Amino acid sequence: MAREIQKVGVVGLGTMGAGIAQVCIQAGVETVGREVTPELGEAARGKIAHFLGRAVEKGRLSQEDGDAALARLKLTTELADLADCDLVVEAAFEDLTIKHELFRELSEVVGEDAILATNTSALSVTEIASAAAPPERVVGMHFFNPAPLMPLVEIVRAQQTDEAVVDAAYAFAQRLGKEPVRCNDTPGFIVNRILIPLLNDCVRVLDEAGVSPEDIDRAMRFGAGWPMGPCTLVDLVGLDVHVHASEALWQGLREPRMAPPARIVAMEKAGHLGRKSGRGFYEYQ
Ligand code: CAA
Repeated sequence: MAREIQKVGVVGLGTMGAGIAQVCIQAGVETVGREVTPELGEAARGKIAHFLGRAVEKGRLSQEDGDAALARLKLTTELADLADCDLVVEAAFEDLTIKHELFRELSEVVGEDAILATNTSALSVTEIASAAAPPERVVGMHFFNPAPLMPLVEIVRAQQTDEAVVDAAYAFAQRLGKEPVRCNDTPGFIVNRILIPLLNDCVRVLDEAGVSPEDIDRAMRFGAGWPMGPCTLVDLVGLDVHVHASEALWQGLREPRMAPPARIVAMEKAGHLGRKSGRGFYEYQ
């Protein structure tokens, strides 16, 4: 197991999947992106082309390199087109049934020594791996949002993961120019275990201390050196993703700070999901 990674598949080209595909093609890796419809695939390609175009405009990337990167991305709606991928990174919905189905199908489609990775942030990699054959080839590769800008990748070792697969995923993340860190498959892994309760505290302080989102963001930027304030960050991550990850931590560890605050649950129910829906703590065009 764990052959050299020449071609990568990315399943699901939403915010995270598109970002991961972008990172791969910019690192010179042939990438096949799979979405459920051609329109969703094209939308992701459009987003990637936009960010590459911005990098060209700013002089951080040559036009030639940008074009070459984009040419490395192939789109498909068929999982069967991932047959010759050495690594597949799954970035589909955070739904165990969907992921089980994908890992079952992927196990049949890819070569026997291909690695199957999941970008899950809230589900158990061990549970996801249980649907794969063999489960030893499954590893967590948890990128951070926005994937092209955030250096960290958590390399998550499930109960079943072969250590050679962990090493191969770690080496590949390094090849992508990322800063990988190995960890076990525990709720929230490293960063979300710490960050999610902290963001929940920030949201609770809004009401407790009678502070506006603007001021709590300024407080954490100017008083704690955060690159963006907590409300801006929750809007970036998405209220739905944040609530789901909070629920998963709460289910797993039962610490009250992990339970999503009523305020953001109400916002999620109202469809105020942050940047992606045009409204969260802030409004976006
Ligand atoms: N994809 C690709 N490129 C992007 C991008 C994206 N999503 N977003 C921005 N860029 C590019 C753009 O080209 C942008 O330039 P333009 O705006 O001129 O087009 C360029 O990057 C730089 O953007 P900024 O000037 O906004 O960069 P910045 O210096 O303000 O840094 C940041 C942005 C890196 C996001 C920084 O604000 C930061 O580190 N924020 C914290 C983010 C964070 O904590 N993420 C983790 C979330 S938790 C998580 O992801 C885990 C989970 O499981 C939920």
